[in-house]
Amino acid sequence: MSPRALVTGGAGYVGSHCARRLVRAGFEVATVDDLSQGHRLAVSGGLVEADVRDRQALVDVLGRGFDVVLHFAALTSVGGSSQAPVDYWDVNVGGTIALLRAMAETDTRHLVVSSTCAVHGIPTRIPIRESGSRAPISPYGDTKAAMERLVEAAAAAGALSAITLRYFNAAGAAEDGWLGEAHHPETHLIPLALEAASRQRPMKLFGSDHPTPDGTCIRDYVHVEDLAEAHLAAAQRLLSGGPSATFNLGTGHGASVLEVVRAVERVAGPVPLERAPRRPGDPPALVADPRAALDGLGWRARRGLDQMVRDAWRWARSPRFGPKAPADGDLRDRCAPG
Ligand code: UFG
Repeated sequence: MSPRALVTGGAGYVGSHCARRLVRAGFEVATVDDLSQGHRLAVSGGLVEADVRDRQALVDVLGRGFDVVLHFAALTSVGGSSQAPVDYWDVNVGGTIALLRAMAETDTRHLVVSSTCAVHGIPTRIPIRESGSRAPISPYGDTKAAMERLVEAAAAAGALSAITLRYFNAAGAAEDGWLGEAHHPETHLIPLALEAASRQRPMKLFGSDHPTPDGTCIRDYVHVEDLAEAHLAAAQRLLSGGPSATFNLGTGHGASVLEVVRAVERVAGPVPLERAPRRPGDPPALVADPRAALDGLGWRARRGLDQMVRDAWRWARSPRFGPKAPADGDLRDRCAPG
C-alpha cells in the first residue's frame, strides 16, 4: 500500500515542489492550505482548504489516516515579520501547536518540519553546522526557533519522531517548468534580478560594504528540487523507524549578490543595478555545512547556481500561475510569503 503524506502549505513555493516529488515517489498526498498565499494550480494530490491554526480541520483530515506530515504552512518574510510580528507568532507557532495537538489526537507519529537558516542569526562560524548557535535576529527567525524547540520537546516527550530541515536560500523552479516561485510582493534576489534584466528596470543592490570579498552578502542558494529530494529522504527515514534529527540544507558553497547577478546576466542579459544601503537584518554571510544531511539522509544538493537561474528564468518567462494581488487588509499587504 502507498504511504500517505499530509502536506501543510502544499500550495506554496517549497511545499508544492515537495508534494509533487512525494507523489512521483509513490506517496498518496493530500495538501492542507488556505490559499492565502499559495496557488491552487501548484497543488499535487487532493486539497483541503483550511487554515493551519484550525485544529479541528486538521483532526478531520488526519483522522483519514496519514503515515507522515510535512509542515510548510507559515509566514516567511524576514522583513515582513518586523512589521507584523504578532501575525508571525500566531501563524508559525500557533499553527505548529494546532498541528501537534491534532497529530496527538489522531495518533499520527511522523513529522517533517520546515525551518530556516534564519534561526542562526549572525553565525559565529561558517559553514554553519546544526549545532551552531540558535540566536535569531528577526521575529521570523524567532518564530522558527520557537517552532523547532516545540517540536523537539514533543519528540523528547515521546509524542512523535520529527525531522527539522533548515533551508538556506531556496531558489530555482521545477526542471520541467511546471512549478515555480510566485510571491506577492517578491523579495527574493534571483526573481528580482531576472525581472530587472527583462524589464531593464534597476534592481536595488542592498549593501556593497559588507565584510565579504566583493562587499555584497554571501548566501548558500539551494535548488528547490534538491530541497524536495531532502524532504522525500526525511519522510522515508522516519517511516523506516529513523530517529528525530535536525539538518541544515544547502550546497556548502556561498555566492555573493554580485555573483548571482552575473549568473543572471549569463541567461537574461544585463541587470541594471542601483546601489542602496544595507538591508536591515541581513547577515553578511550564511553558508550551510551539509555534511550531517549527507550522513543522516544520504542527501546532497546536485544542482548548482547556473541551473537555479536557468530554471527560474524558464518559469519567469512562462509561469503557469502568477502572484496574487493582495485583498484589502490581507496579510499579503504586509508580508512577503516564502
Ligand atoms: N538582495 C538585494 N536586492 C534585492 C533583493 C535581495 O541586494 O532586491 C540581496 C539581499 O540583501 C541579500 C541577498 O540578496 O543579501 C539574498 O536576499 P533574499 O531576499 O533573496 O534572501 P534572504 O537571504 O534575505 O532570505 C533568505 C530566505 C529566508 C530566510 C533568510 C535567512 O528567503 O526565508 O534567507 O536569512 F529566512
